[in-house]
Amino acid sequence: MTVQPKELEAQLEAIRLEAQQALAATEALEQLEQLRIKYLGKKGPIPQVLGSMGKLDAADRPRIGSLANDVKEAIQSDLEQRRVALQAAQLQAQLDAETLDVTMPGTYWPQGRTHPLNAMSDRVIDIFVGMGYTVAEGPEMETDYYNFEALNFLPDHPARDMQDTLYLPDGNIMRTHTSSVQIRYMEANEPPIRIVMPGRCYRRDTVDATHTAVFNQIEFLAIDEGLTFTDLKGTLRMFLEQLFGEVPIRMRPSFFPFTEPSAEVDLQWKGRWLEIMGCGMVDPNVLKSVGYDPEVYTGFAGGLGVERLAAVLHQIDDIRRLYTSDLRFLQQF
Ligand code: DAH
Repeated sequence: MTVQPKELEAQLEAIRLEAQQALAATEALEQLEQLRIKYLGKKGPIPQVLGSMGKLDAADRPRIGSLANDVKEAIQSDLEQRRVALQAAQLQAQLDAETLDVTMPGTYWPQGRTHPLNAMSDRVIDIFVGMGYTVAEGPEMETDYYNFEALNFLPDHPARDMQDTLYLPDGNIMRTHTSSVQIRYMEANEPPIRIVMPGRCYRRDTVDATHTAVFNQIEFLAIDEGLTFTDLKGTLRMFLEQLFGEVPIRMRPSFFPFTEPSAEVDLQWKGRWLEIMGCGMVDPNVLKSVGYDPEVYTGFAGGLGVERLAAVLHQIDDIRRLYTSDLRFLQQF
């Protein structure tokens, strides 16, 4: 059975047209490879057409063979064109996506800053460190011994009532002051000592403009041979000058179980005398409780409230503001 050349011509034309349309419809480079295999592969339609050439008249064969070649080349050239176009489109899409417009306004991230309480602590600590002190810390949960007994508070001494204590069910307490750290440090170290002790303290206080149940103190302690009240006064003057400048200061006699003599320090600030810390010469009983010989060593100590100091320095009318995280307030620092 013979095959009409017209029939093969029509088949080849149909293949060319179909491939052309399929290629034009591609949207991605991966599709092109599938079409190449489909139309130009060994199992593609062209070899199939050529397979039936044997049934043609010998005279028609060269013409059909050359037409098959033309179709193949046409598909190859369409394929190549499409590949170039798709590659260009892909590159453009990538460029569009990655374009960096340096004239665009930047994204604004508000800058964080140190909380005024921490900034206050840092300043105090820095000043003491500048005078040769090192930082020491102790636990917030304490025993009666470290918070009171070793600091010369006698069991029934009314001084215990000065500081309304938060007792825990197990008999421990939340420390009422950082003075407990003095004892822990002296127990573990020998004189000479120069330490500054920041930390959180707790009291059963009714919260108001000048009291919070949780607050921060900074304590300092110096123990050496021959330290006198003059050294305490000089240290206080240096410290306060660095913090407030040259302002008048005065010391008033006071009482603390762990110091003798004891004093309260006031400074004149914005026309008023303001009390800012307690201090004194370390009581010989305290030195004895940590095994130091009070005949050899003397020392001085002091403690201040960080909230109170910040309130004085920045004229904050209500220390609760330091705890309410109101950005309008905090942003002023
Ligand atoms: N611990 C005292 C308080 O919480 C403050 C204080 C007073 C500390 C005198 C001292 C000191 O080291 O010598 O009120």
